[in-house]
Amino acid sequence: MLVYVNGKFLSKDDAKISVFDHGFLYGDGVYETMRAYRGRIFLVSKHLARLKQSADAISLSLPLPLDKIGEALNEALTVNKLNEAYIRIQISRGAGEIGLDPALCPAPSMVIMTRPFKDYPPELYANGVDVAIVQTRRNHPLALDPAIKGTNFLNNILAKIESIKTGAYEGIMLNWKGYVAEGTISNIFTVKKGVLHTPHLDTGILEGITRDLVLHLARKEKIPTREMLMRPKDLIKADECFITNTTIEVLPVTAIDGRPVGSGRPGPITERLMHAYRNEVLRHA
Ligand code: PDD
Repeated sequence: MLVYVNGKFLSKDDAKISVFDHGFLYGDGVYETMRAYRGRIFLVSKHLARLKQSADAISLSLPLPLDKIGEALNEALTVNKLNEAYIRIQISRGAGEIGLDPALCPAPSMVIMTRPFKDYPPELYANGVDVAIVQTRRNHPLALDPAIKGTNFLNNILAKIESIKTGAYEGIMLNWKGYVAEGTISNIFTVKKGVLHTPHLDTGILEGITRDLVLHLARKEKIPTREMLMRPKDLIKADECFITNTTIEVLPVTAIDGRPVGSGRPGPITERLMHAYRNEVLRHA
């Protein structure tokens, strides 16, 4: 597997950046995770737009124009002969003296990693997964806005450590006010009385690209949707639940904190949306 590092494709062993990179020292950087189906990166322009938004939000100038970054992503697939792939691009502040001032770093670092996409076990989709509501609260948007897809991931890692302790597949964080926010690497949806619910962006969450597509597909399928301030009890009392992200797509949740969601099986609206998402992927590829 060849890794793109600042304009060059290097072997895994040679792919290195400086220990003075502020990405390493301070988690000062932004990233995107993408998925390629049949050699084409799904919704790549949306991922590039969000990469730019995240970079702008931390006053980081991208090392290349977005179209050139798009070319580098495609090249990473070509040189690695990948069709079904996981792709991660990371842009960090770059190497500089120790200190917080971004001006210490003359040039950002850009890394693109790829690997063949390993399908998730089909049982996860057939039976659903369990999630745990964790104690760790999602970052306050005025502290570190969860809308920024930054490489500073300690908030999510602390939540993940908690959820691993409970044995749950994913940890769900509440926001600073106690409303349901999102998973450690996913957005969350519920269905109640035929209406699709998901936390409103004002809750302080990442605007997931999968989340947006699922909302769009639901509207196309004439499923009523509501973005809301969701209380933990709304989550627990849901008829159906699922989580989304770029790699897992739409994944049913059949237990929350050890209690079954609805019938304890993936629900009908969840299944409709899983299929609608798959069809969208096929249309694209
Ligand atoms: N994570 N919320 C958080 C905190 C995330 O980290 C992610 C994605 C999402 C879903 O976003 P999208 O639908 O755009 O993938 C929501 C990716 C997969 C990651 O961390 O690698």
